[in-house]
Amino acid sequence: MRSFRKLAVIAFIGLLALPLFARADGRLDSAIGQAQPVTAAHGMVVAQEALAARIGADILQKGGNAIDAAVAVGFAMAVTYPRAGNIGGGGFMVIHRAGGGGDNDTTIDYRETAPAAITEKSFLDAQGNADPQKSRDSALAIGVPGTVAGLALAEEKYGSGRFTLADLLRPAIALARDGFAVADDTVDSLPHDRPRLLRWPASAQLFLKVDGAPLAPGDRLVQPDLANTLEAIAKDGPRAFYQGPIAQKLAAAIQAAGGVMIVDDLKDYRAIERPPIRGTYRNYDIVSMAPPSSGGIALLEMLNILEGYDLAHETEAQTLFLMIEAMKRAYADRAWFLGDPDVVQVPVARLTSKSYAAQWRATIDPTRATPAADIHSGGVVTPEGRNTTHFSIVDRFGNAVSNTYTLNFSYGVGLVAAGTGVLLNNELDDFAVKPNTPNAYGLLGFKANAPGPGKRPLSSMTPTIVLKDGKPFLVTGSPGGSLIITAVLQIVVDVIDRGLDIAGAVSAPRVHDQWMPDKVFAEPGLADNLITALQTRGDNVVVRHLPTSANSILVTPAGVVGAADPRTRGALAVGY
Ligand code: DON
Repeated sequence: MRSFRKLAVIAFIGLLALPLFARADGRLDSAIGQAQPVTAAHGMVVAQEALAARIGADILQKGGNAIDAAVAVGFAMAVTYPRAGNIGGGGFMVIHRAGGGGDNDTTIDYRETAPAAITEKSFLDAQGNADPQKSRDSALAIGVPGTVAGLALAEEKYGSGRFTLADLLRPAIALARDGFAVADDTVDSLPHDRPRLLRWPASAQLFLKVDGAPLAPGDRLVQPDLANTLEAIAKDGPRAFYQGPIAQKLAAAIQAAGGVMIVDDLKDYRAIERPPIRGTYRNYDIVSMAPPSSGGIALLEMLNILEGYDLAHETEAQTLFLMIEAMKRAYADRAWFLGDPDVVQVPVARLTSKSYAAQWRATIDPTRATPAADIHSGGVVTPEGRNTTHFSIVDRFGNAVSNTYTLNFSYGVGLVAAGTGVLLNNELDDFAVKPNTPNAYGLLGFKANAPGPGKRPLSSMTPTIVLKDGKPFLVTGSPGGSLIITAVLQIVVDVIDRGLDIAGAVSAPRVHDQWMPDKVFAEPGLADNLITALQTRGDNVVVRHLPTSANSILVTPAGVVGAADPRTRGALAVGY
């Protein structure tokens, strides 16, 4: 067992990161609202921003499939939801295609890569300590954006063929060119993120008014450079983004801000189609994201552990307790084993096997919390913001898409590359910039997730499709950094074991344990008797706002039911 060192330094870093993630809208301690279920006969889109959700539903209604709709929503949110929707970041898309058989499930990995000049030492200071300023708040943190390549690959391989990429980009281009009135979460987040945007003129010019005040409700966000960039992609495909004048402007802006990305890094970027992580939970198939996301493996580990208990007949308190024990163990494995599968060997089969879960289960005392230090050793957590975004789509043909994409922090690193309208990510902080040193989400990592040239940093994004009899049953996922995987776990358990409907599952207060720190975070609104029950078993419960947003769909005999997560303003479920 490793000893736990440098606690003071780590805690200090955590404190520094804290203001970054505090909520902008002052609702820090409020309980959660109730999601309103939306039922439709044919298809459904649930996304964090309403204009984009409607664009997706429109594509479905015009005969498009879930992949067409996802591509249109993905590009639209790069315009309408700038804090997380993006073409300057990356993400993952999990796809189920109708027609039965496991081969019909696939994933697109469009995670950012580290520029070729990034090394294990890139994010250290002169003393060899992790320097969060470098990995979170500087242009060094910018990974090569994957979204354009990922969405284009998804469309090329799995689109219906009824639409060209240009067709699917058209609504996004119009919104960027003509502008739209900012509202909801964009209005809520801009005041908080203003100082980071203010540092770069091209960013300030877009998101702040001439007097430096953030755009307010009803102000129009007009993005002509972004419209031109999207138009170039519509005309010439992803090559227009990764080569030529746009790539040159991106690299120039990043270098001018102190980064190391060069045009060749952009030219070399590839989105990768990967087999999903597959497993079973009771009578359901779980299809989720493989490394470089930790989400699918950790989710399956937890579900495999929990499958050994009859949760449908446990008390709610005991179910929560057992989920928390499973969480600690899966997050410990996450820290040890997971990283970019193209660079390190990830023991996927072992970690997701039922026998491995049985070994972990044998270490769980059903009456007493296992101290995190008895599982491994660790770090600290800081609260995260909702800086990633998830959407779920089901079409009338039986296809489904679960997509989570991100700039990492809210508005990424805050830098818009001049002349492109592209807001850039700070994804490289998801590396373990130094072994056993927490990232902004308090997640620890070791060698497997060390920074390196061309490497993809480990993610927690967990876009997931649950199948019943080979057909989409539940489509879910969430933003929230380290909170994502446990949010998805709870949606799955709430629906399958606790029999909640999707609105109930999405709205239910959630808990989170990520092994280190040795704490259980509980959302305001979790019943006092449940908190007491966890404390009695030895859990160290801290009530805290947990910013996730699990926009989800459940396919029921009565229709396709969407639930927009009530935790963030502006999310919409729209079906037809
Ligand atoms: O890939 C990851 O795990 C993180 N970069 C996601 C960040 C995130 O979800 C932030 N906000 N909610």
